[in-house]
Amino acid sequence: MQVKNICCIGAGYVGGPTMAVIALKCPHINVTVVDANPEKIKAWNGPLEQLPVYEPGLAEVVKEARRRNLFFSDDISGNIEKAEMIFMAVNTPTKTEGEGAGMAADLRYIEACALDIAKYSKSDKIVIEKSTLPVRTAEKIKEILISEGSGVHFEILSNPEFLAEGTAIQDLFKSDRVLIGGDETESGQNAVQALVDIYANWIPKEKILTTNVWSSELAKLASNAMLAQRISSINSLSSLCEITGANIEELSKAIGMDHRIGPKFLKASVGFGGSCFQKDILNLVYLCKYYGLEEVADYWHQVIKINDYQKNRFAQKIIDHFGGDLTGKKITVLGWAFKENTNDSRESPAIYVAEKLFKAGAILEIYDPMVSKESIFRNIDFYWGSSKKGDLKSQISVIDSVSKLDLSNDAVAILTQWEAFKSLDYLKTVVFDGRGVLSSSRYSIGRG
Ligand SMILES: NC(=O)c1ccc[n+]([C@@H]2O[C@H](COP(=O)([O-])OP(=O)(O)OC[C@H]3O[C@@H](n4cnc5c(N)ncnc54)[C@H](O)[C@@H]3O)[C@@H](O)[C@H]2O)c1
Repeated sequence: MQVKNICCIGAGYVGGPTMAVIALKCPHINVTVVDANPEKIKAWNGPLEQLPVYEPGLAEVVKEARRRNLFFSDDISGNIEKAEMIFMAVNTPTKTEGEGAGMAADLRYIEACALDIAKYSKSDKIVIEKSTLPVRTAEKIKEILISEGSGVHFEILSNPEFLAEGTAIQDLFKSDRVLIGGDETESGQNAVQALVDIYANWIPKEKILTTNVWSSELAKLASNAMLAQRISSINSLSSLCEITGANIEELSKAIGMDHRIGPKFLKASVGFGGSCFQKDILNLVYLCKYYGLEEVADYWHQVIKINDYQKNRFAQKIIDHFGGDLTGKKITVLGWAFKENTNDSRESPAIYVAEKLFKAGAILEIYDPMVSKESIFRNIDFYWGSSKKGDLKSQISVIDSVSKLDLSNDAVAILTQWEAFKSLDYLKTVVFDGRGVLSSSRYSIGRG
């Protein structure tokens, strides 16, 4: 099939950057990203320094592609109708109510997309799952498309996204692999080929892996679970280091030099965050329970429990340092994004550590180079629940520039490893560094 028009539903951290790169690498295809949030679309069409997603290199890609074949639009129906190929890149958070609440993926946004596609399609379409989904979701999507559609043919592919925030553009330019799952029927394989042809414009053929739909859906959940598991493994050992006098950085180095293990994802930290790891593991745990695999479910659930333990432990160390009460203590929180080089703060460990410090009475001064004051207060509102009852206004301030930071506060907690924080002068304060310093030799008094 000759694809001339692509539509992507969802202009977020995945939809925006992935489609910008497809448009850049495929100048012969018109790529339109649509979203239910008109403000987001306006921002994608606005000044490059205020795009809704911050990623190194993204603005340059958008600048070039937007002049040519990359469009952002709130006309969902018109763009579905026009496209031969439709990506679904909408959010799939953890369910908050109903069966599976707190564990299963909330598929309401995916279902809404499928309904829109069924409603507005007047010709055959290839529909692609770009969002991370539980294994066998394609079955559900197919049901909706067939029962609500007007008789046109839909082919469903799974093409999960493996980019990491902070390095998204590099990851998309040079993917370790592109995974495409499709039906083993002739029309399924034709659809797979149509998507292979798009990626083949810049990804070497041997890195494009084709599988059945279920393997592809499950591979994304499994990859995230394995990555998070490495983080929890090393973090669990950091607590043992603190008691025994072993040094976690030396331990990481020694372990990582084994070529069977490798050095990546072996740095101790305050815990993982971001919108994906926790929700994808919870989803995996839910699936295992659903299929009666209790031991497997327990095994993966432990990865999350260690992560919660680590965040809590880090905050508790600060509280203990001040004798169990932070009333009146001024603490600078450096970093709010869940990692460096992104403006994404969903599930960031900073949110949890700051909450615990706040509850213990601390006065917080927060700074992040890329997360706005509005987003920080939105996170506090969303995540803190009842602990918000403290006096937010007099206890929390957000600084908008590194030059305004007061490093003579009682303590500094470094919660995101932004490059800019490395060169600050911390001489007048106690530093609790969320990376590496949870080790026996340097923890607690830090570099002060
Ligand atoms: N963020 C990542 O690093 C990452 C990496 C790989 C995979 N994923 C997966 O990709 C998916 C998207 O993640 P994200 O971080 O881009 O989410 P996001 O919240 O940044 O973006 C999702 C967008 O979809 C829009 N949307 C929701 N329902 C819609 C509908 N029915 N019609 C039109 N627009 C709709 C929302 O307004 C939002 O702008 C998730 O399943 C996630 O697990 C994310």
